[in-house]
Amino acid sequence: MSKFKAIILNQDGEKFTREVKEIDKSFLKHGNVVVKIDYSSLNYKDGMILKNGGKLVKEYPHIPGIDFAGTVEESESPNFKNGDKVILTGWRVGEIYFGGYAQYAKVQDNFLVKLPKDLDTKKAMILGTAGLTALMCVLIIQARETILKGEPIKDVLVTGATGGVGSVAVLALSKLGYIVSAVTGKKDKSEFLKSIGAKNIIDRSELDQEARPLDKALYDGVVDTVGGKILAKALSHTRPNGMVAACGLASSYKLDTTVMPFIIRGIKLWGVDSVTAPIIRRQFLWSQATTYVDFEKLSKGVSIWGLQDIISSSSKILKGDISGRVLVDVNK
Ligand SMILES: NC(=O)c1ccc[n+]([C@@H]2O[C@H](COP(=O)([O-])OP(=O)(O)OC[C@H]3O[C@@H](n4cnc5c(N)ncnc54)[C@H](OP(=O)(O)O)[C@@H]3O)[C@@H](O)[C@H]2O)c1
Repeated sequence: MSKFKAIILNQDGEKFTREVKEIDKSFLKHGNVVVKIDYSSLNYKDGMILKNGGKLVKEYPHIPGIDFAGTVEESESPNFKNGDKVILTGWRVGEIYFGGYAQYAKVQDNFLVKLPKDLDTKKAMILGTAGLTALMCVLIIQARETILKGEPIKDVLVTGATGGVGSVAVLALSKLGYIVSAVTGKKDKSEFLKSIGAKNIIDRSELDQEARPLDKALYDGVVDTVGGKILAKALSHTRPNGMVAACGLASSYKLDTTVMPFIIRGIKLWGVDSVTAPIIRRQFLWSQATTYVDFEKLSKGVSIWGLQDIISSSSKILKGDISGRVLVDVNK
């Protein structure tokens, strides 16, 4: 590799630019492992960064893309050798470090996870950051049965259900045999949600309302990707000893609730952060991916974009206009 393609973001005063450029290898400045990238993916945070840096990017010119999977091509690390297949998500790559919307990346070895044998780089990025986060949420719901030795889980709720995190959560929870209610603002996506395992479809407007401190107890577990009023309402509808995994803010970063669900129903609100999750946990989660995810089903909701498509269309994710996952083929 001497020259390769990448998305370059730049900011000059008020002017913010995004373009696909051919750049030199010497441009890559962080880390000790060079990875030839096969795929990246589109996540909500990518949309924010592509828009205007999202207050996350500190230096320009910058290469965005918060995740990628590919093959090690040069390594100064004893832990990785040429030819190793690897996955990267989080660690603020694509924000303060150069990211995955490029044919090559150079990152710190302790950010990388070796690709498990039963996955390939395409499947890894069909999941990507959103999928890994969804698996973290699903394991939290399951924790009532596994770690806490509580009552079995039956009914679960997923908000932002057609989104990246939401759709993987719907799929994985239904594969576990739970009855999944999917909350969506997209009236035309009921069939898609049913095809990935949702049993009941709930119109977002039903939950996007002021919550009572306690409401009818309906769900044993919740995966919330949107925050705000919808999360408060979901808490008030959670059954005694239910698990609520909160990972997102697609609606709002605010949460106006009461202590009632916690002290009267013993509900657990469990925050999820996939960015700084320890490597050992990531290795475990990736090793479980094929157990939790039916890739054949999930693939039906996957769109494949190139770098140029990211430039023209990434803003759609901020408007909630994308359903399922967007896989980014950086060599397209
Ligand atoms: N904590 C972490 O480690 C972590 C990791 C990954 C992602 N996240 C967060 O999780 C959230 C989802 O990420 P994603 O990549 O899955 O994004 P996404 O694909 O855009 O999914 C978000 C979904 O939320 C729903 N939505 C959008 N705007 C909304 C609004 N104003 N009110 C209510 N619902 C709305 C939409 O689904 P419907 O149309 O079906 O309702 C949308 O598809 C984001 O906030 C992201 O920052 C956090």
